[in-house]
Amino acid sequence: MTASEPFSESASKSPIAIGTDRYRMLAQAIAGQPLPLALLDLDLLEANAQAMLDRAGSLPIRLGSKSIRCVEVMQRVQALSPRFQGLLCYSAREAAWLSTQGFDDLLVAYPSIDRRDIEAVATPLAQGRRIVLMVDDAEQVTALAAQARALGVKLLLCIDLDMSMSLPGLHFGVRRSPVTTPAQTVALAQAIAAHPAELKLVGLMGYEGQIAGLQDALPGKAIKNAIVRALKRRSIVQLTARRCACVAALREAGFSLEFVNGGGTGSLESTREDSSVTEVAAGSGLYSPGLFDHFAAFHHQPALCFVLQAVRRPLPDVVTCAGGGYIASGPAGVDRLPTPYLPAGMTLLPLEGAGEVQTPVTLPQSTQLAIGDPVFFRHAKAGELAERFDHFLLLRNGAIVGSAPTYRGQAQNFF
Ligand SMILES: Cc1ncc(COP(=O)(O)O)c(C=O)c1O
Repeated sequence: MTASEPFSESASKSPIAIGTDRYRMLAQAIAGQPLPLALLDLDLLEANAQAMLDRAGSLPIRLGSKSIRCVEVMQRVQALSPRFQGLLCYSAREAAWLSTQGFDDLLVAYPSIDRRDIEAVATPLAQGRRIVLMVDDAEQVTALAAQARALGVKLLLCIDLDMSMSLPGLHFGVRRSPVTTPAQTVALAQAIAAHPAELKLVGLMGYEGQIAGLQDALPGKAIKNAIVRALKRRSIVQLTARRCACVAALREAGFSLEFVNGGGTGSLESTREDSSVTEVAAGSGLYSPGLFDHFAAFHHQPALCFVLQAVRRPLPDVVTCAGGGYIASGPAGVDRLPTPYLPAGMTLLPLEGAGEVQTPVTLPQSTQLAIGDPVFFRHAKAGELAERFDHFLLLRNGAIVGSAPTYRGQAQNFF
């Protein structure tokens, strides 16, 4: 059969023993669609959204746009509950663009220094949209004050607080902000306050990446899991005390904050316990990619996957799919590879992994696939898959009900 033929004929010939029901349902749903494609199950997306609301207690959730990268998905999720409030963006230009797509209350999670980035947010700010920029250094503050003066706008700022934990020989956390103590936080707030016409401090963000993004229930890794959980427990105590102390110090120094943001998908249970936090940020749990499969405290549903076509059979138990080399960012390792999803029980070949033009998989003994059949994979991270596809096909009750353009499909690219 040719690639353009519907695979449903060959799928119906395939004796697939493991994961049969879901595989057949999904294969049937996408029959006739050109491959590769990205498929978003709206029922699972909504279940994940509800689970995240439950896990966050009563706090509002600011959706992390980098982990979604699809306007329609963000609109759909925000429409599910008034507790989905605002977006955590990853670039100032992105925030400016999102403001043209109907979003407001946009917090840019990473520092913006480029003059063109500030120019981009100046227009929506002048139109009354709320865009808040991130700072963690007096040098950034000086630069932003000068740019605000030149543009004639007043910039709203948030301080990024370091939430990592340093131990002898181990830095547990991410390298983001140098602002670690209450005194440093107040000093930066005062640097902002030195430019009252140009800048206003409105928020504090403390993102505990080592809790929110680090799996602690990996199969076959009992000792590592125990160590990571012990480190997490210790770190949560330390970072909660730090975030509370910095918020208190700012208040004592006369600064009134409009919000304190914390957390991510993997830390909702602990972040909500921090009384200083007024909102959590999260996004990955909506799609629930491979790197979120093994947390002790929660399990979300695999809502987003991508589908390749089996195009050759180099061995009786190996099929090779066209494309598929969608490697996730971060420290290079096998956990950044896509996860073979359906049929269940497939594995990547250790010496090939997922390649730019082909991805072979070993099939379990009881499973056969025909050339032309679809093979389902999951990306390791949430938002990056959107950079590979122009749109997500939308699945509802086992049938395709439409498609939603990704950022890429709307010709938007920010990094
Ligand atoms: C500042 C900040 N908050 C929250 C998150 C959590 O996002 P997610 O829920 O997608 O893991 C991230 C992710 O990197 C982040 O950078």
